[in-house]
Amino acid sequence: MKALYEGKCKELFSTEINGELIQLFKDDTTAFDGKKHEVLANKGVLNCAISSFIFEKLHQSDIATHYIRREKNAEMRVHHLNMMPVEIVVRNVAAGSICRRLGLKEGSVLPRPLTELFYKSDELGDPLINEEHADMFGWANKEDVATMFKIALNVNQALCKLFNNVGIQLIDYKLEFGKTKDGSIVLGDEITPDACRLWDQITGKKLDKDVFRQDLGGLTEVYHEVASRLGVTVEMSS
Ligand SMILES: Nc1ncnc2c1ncn2[C@@H]1O[C@H](COP(=O)(O)OP(=O)(O)OP(=O)(O)O)[C@@H](O)[C@H]1O
Ligand SMILES: [Mg+2]
Repeated sequence: MKALYEGKCKELFSTEINGELIQLFKDDTTAFDGKKHEVLANKGVLNCAISSFIFEKLHQSDIATHYIRREKNAEMRVHHLNMMPVEIVVRNVAAGSICRRLGLKEGSVLPRPLTELFYKSDELGDPLINEEHADMFGWANKEDVATMFKIALNVNQALCKLFNNVGIQLIDYKLEFGKTKDGSIVLGDEITPDACRLWDQITGKKLDKDVFRQDLGGLTEVYHEVASRLGVTVEMSS
């Protein structure tokens, strides 16, 4: 397979089928724009299994994604998308950057789910932007942004239900979208505890990458707990 792109946490390969890619989830774990980096055994396979499970659930809710199927180990087969250079963050509860930015108390429940737009740029630290910036600089036009926000809110309904059923509060998460050959916008990338904040509903225990950012303990143990609660089986190498 030919490597098309290697990012911090995933690698993309072309396949024998035109328009289909393999997305490989790596064990590499980074935080603070790559300044903190560790390789954690089995993190990739856990993320691949969790993300695959979630994309399958989204398909059951009629939400279109790039997901085709889970392959062996940490590999997922996806449709090749023309990615939009923006990220959509959905927030249900205030945590992380929005608390610093707006002076909100961490853990305060927002009046309704909030969608935010960011420009994907490592050099600039993925800055918050609005629809005007996205449109003006050609990153996504207003109609595209409206479509992504609408899909993001549908994703939110499905995900809140899914996590709520297993005693997990979905605080916030990041989504990426891309366009298919026919120009329609679908959800791409990943939905994993790397890209979400997940808190235990009763104890508030963190079950996401903040465990790594804040040195709160073993990250793969926590991801394994998320997988188990969702009923996802993962074959881990010892
Ligand atoms: N279906 C898809 N088709 C093409 N590219 C995709 C698809 N899904 C995700 N991608 C892109 O693949 C890359 C995955 O790599 P990874 O997430 O490791 O990158 P990263 O180091 O986090 O950097 P980035 O800031 O680009 O996400 C991302 O750039 C993502 O936008
Ligand atoms: Mg990424």
